[in-house]
Amino acid sequence: MENGNRPLRIALTKGRLEKDTVGLLEKIGYDCSAVHDKGRKLILPVGDSIEVVLAKAADVITYVENGVCDMGVVGKDTIMEMNGKFFEIADLGFGRCKFALAGKKGSDFYSGYNVKTIATKYPNVSRAFFEKKGMDVDIVKIEGSVELAPLLGLADAIVDIVETGTTLRENGLEVFEDISPISARLIVNRVSLKMRQQEIESLITLIEDNL
Ligand code: PRP
Repeated sequence: MENGNRPLRIALTKGRLEKDTVGLLEKIGYDCSAVHDKGRKLILPVGDSIEVVLAKAADVITYVENGVCDMGVVGKDTIMEMNGKFFEIADLGFGRCKFALAGKKGSDFYSGYNVKTIATKYPNVSRAFFEKKGMDVDIVKIEGSVELAPLLGLADAIVDIVETGTTLRENGLEVFEDISPISARLIVNRVSLKMRQQEIESLITLIEDNL
């Protein structure tokens, strides 16, 4: 596996976090024009010393964990679900939302003794939440638009991300309970932090000074 003298490689989560992350890199003085004009390119130079990799959230963690990217920007939701081996260095303050338990408005989720079914994209987060409550549940993994599951009668509730609350509201659902706050985090590969300590630490300092 290559490592050596390549530019410092940062994996960025495509989509919701992308704009704020690029904004942060620009604020600290990096030229991100290649990212703005990326077309379908996935690895993009940012200044002379950094290259940015655009990936899905879970893949950001995989690449950082395996050391093919030195650093990454990813949501706490994905970090909580994947539990990887890396350093979580900083809360970047953007991408703020929360994990919540939600379901059909007015339904009495907590009553009765039947085992409830929970639909979610985050089975590990859900399992940990209900284990802590001492509540036995069945978890069904859904890939997207999890809100459909209670509407279609597949689940009693969902564990999902709530940002503005619009998706819940427009589908007749409501939050039963907040689970935890979420925001974008800066993560670093453990070996990279040792091998490229000076480079990485000065970038972390720059980032932290500009939050
Ligand atoms: C997320 C989440 C909710 C929605 C919440 O989905 O799963 O569906 O955003 O946002 P809101 O509170 O502002 O309405 P996303 O848009 O990432 O798409 P997905 O459902 O396909 O994963």
